[in-house]
Amino acid sequence: MDFDFKNILKQLSFNTFIPFFYPIMMMPLRNWRRQAIQMCSFKPADRVIIPGVGSGYDLACLPHDVVVDGVDISEVMLGIAAAKHRLHGDGQDIRLSIMDAENLDFPANTFDKAILGLFLTCVYDPQKAFAEVVRVIKPNGEILIYDHLLRTNKWTGTIMSHMDTVMKYNFCSVIRPFDDIIKGQPVVVVKEIKGDPLGFIRGFLLQKTTSL
Ligand SMILES: C[S@@+](CC[C@H](N)C(=O)[O-])C[C@H]1O[C@@H](n2cnc3c(N)ncnc32)[C@H](O)[C@@H]1O
Repeated sequence: MDFDFKNILKQLSFNTFIPFFYPIMMMPLRNWRRQAIQMCSFKPADRVIIPGVGSGYDLACLPHDVVVDGVDISEVMLGIAAAKHRLHGDGQDIRLSIMDAENLDFPANTFDKAILGLFLTCVYDPQKAFAEVVRVIKPNGEILIYDHLLRTNKWTGTIMSHMDTVMKYNFCSVIRPFDDIIKGQPVVVVKEIKGDPLGFIRGFLLQKTTSL
């Protein structure tokens, strides 16, 4: 992966202190993550892409007979995912690569499913990253997003878009309007669930409608 100025702070955070705190931060999400992933209708031998796979929490929630590509810009997070897979992977077919999800090194229409867990609030340019996911997903393929995103809300949306100008360089960008991220892409939302009573965390199952 080429040197990329926009990702310097993120790589620094995810290669140093975040991996220590991450397991604690993820504890409350354990059941919710599984519930969100169960919205996908997996079939044997499905190809699954996980952009920003991090330390691999999603891997343990997937069926054993799918083929997974996980990509991330943090060597340390990927190293933890690889170590967990070696210990508990039970023969799952998983490839982990250092790659910028804004420029996925895969041909169009390659994958049946994509899992975007806590990723679109973290990546520098969520629109670009989402467009890349849509490109590599097959027509009728499923894209699962679960994150602390809001549906477009006029006043939070305006405030957040200003905050995002600064925060996109850090490890996480608080809240980004979901509708803005998927705007103009050939996808439909087929299912939505709330991860908490206020809907701060939400899961969206989308389907790609046409080939690009
Ligand atoms: C909050 S973590 C989520 C990890 C995992 N998906 C989970 O649910 O636990 C976000 C991950 O996205 C990665 N990331 C950020 N920008 C990225 C990019 N442009 N390409 C690939 N990964 C990226 C970070 O390194 C980090 O591991």
